[in-house]
Amino acid sequence: MARVFSGVQPTGNLHLGNYLGAIRNFARLQDGNECLYCVVDMHAITVWQDPPELQNNIREVTAAFLASGIDPQAHIIFNQSRVPQHAEIAWIFNCVARMGWLNRMTQFKEKAGKHRENASVGLYVYPNLMAADILTYKATHVPVGEDQKQHLELARDIAQKFNNDFGQEFFPIVEPLILDSAARVMSLRDGSNKMSKSDASDYSRLNLNDDADTIALKIRKARTDPAPVPDGSPDGGDRSTRPEAFNLLEIYGALADQPVSQVQKEFGGQQFSEFKKALVELAVEKLGPIGAEMQRLSSDPSYIDGVLSDGAMRARAIAQPIRDEVYEIVGFLRD
Ligand code: AMP
Ligand code: TRP
Repeated sequence: MARVFSGVQPTGNLHLGNYLGAIRNFARLQDGNECLYCVVDMHAITVWQDPPELQNNIREVTAAFLASGIDPQAHIIFNQSRVPQHAEIAWIFNCVARMGWLNRMTQFKEKAGKHRENASVGLYVYPNLMAADILTYKATHVPVGEDQKQHLELARDIAQKFNNDFGQEFFPIVEPLILDSAARVMSLRDGSNKMSKSDASDYSRLNLNDDADTIALKIRKARTDPAPVPDGSPDGGDRSTRPEAFNLLEIYGALADQPVSQVQKEFGGQQFSEFKKALVELAVEKLGPIGAEMQRLSSDPSYIDGVLSDGAMRARAIAQPIRDEVYEIVGFLRD
């Protein structure tokens, strides 16, 4: 039995990429593992968040976890800021990680943009807190989308350096679980950008709480090219020449739990308008119930708050003794 940890930022607009790349896999890993799924509110504030909106977004991610089938009794769902051990261990990791390592992080460069001097210090040390999230529980398996690969490699480096510096095999080495299909869902408007919460156009993504009409409209408007659906032959092109076409095929395959080759067998050579009808039907069938359940849960915030508070209590019980050992290893005096 492995201990599984992952996190999602409460920054609004949860979308199909979050679901296929991460949350759906969280639910699938429940059998035979001990899972902790965290709403990482402390990561969210590395860029500005409106306080009342942050509260809503924390509840929304929790609702998405529950609506996707994560069992909050068998496993642990909680929000990060409620478990102070994450921040305590993150400070130690700030002193283990090297500036040179963080300087290589592509997500920081993307998020900080041109005005790097004006980015928060929190955004810079974001990966250290992420390493602390995982290692505070000595978790070994971390399901994430492709974009988090570099951060997980850093978590491995931090664990290794800590173990080396203090001369003991204390932290385990983290295994990223990046599933092949849909690890990187692209924007519906531009196949060279990933689907993202922060894209200004809502047509770029399918949100988990979109209703059936909105899903249909967004898929109908999704960008494609004039050629028919690729059929797997060299004439059908590939991901690099037809990114939008292949993105839709991959989305279909992931939602249907089929390899892309099978989707091509079924739809190859047809017009995109026909394929899109099938994709709308499938997306509504798979996402509709999740959106409806999120809607239902959002009318009962006290239930959501109870799940988070109970989860945090159970998370603290695991985190506290590990933090105590870390303090001891580092040489702090404590009660
Ligand atoms: P975030 O919204 O950045 O907290 O991401 C939550 C999870 O969703 C992480 O595991 C990401 O890797 C994953 N994710 C975000 N965007 C995508 C995408 N476009 N395709 C696949 N996975 C994604
Ligand atoms: N950085 C991750 C993201 O943006 C979220 C995250 C925070 C996370 N802590 C984590 C993911 C620990 C896995 C494990 O998607």
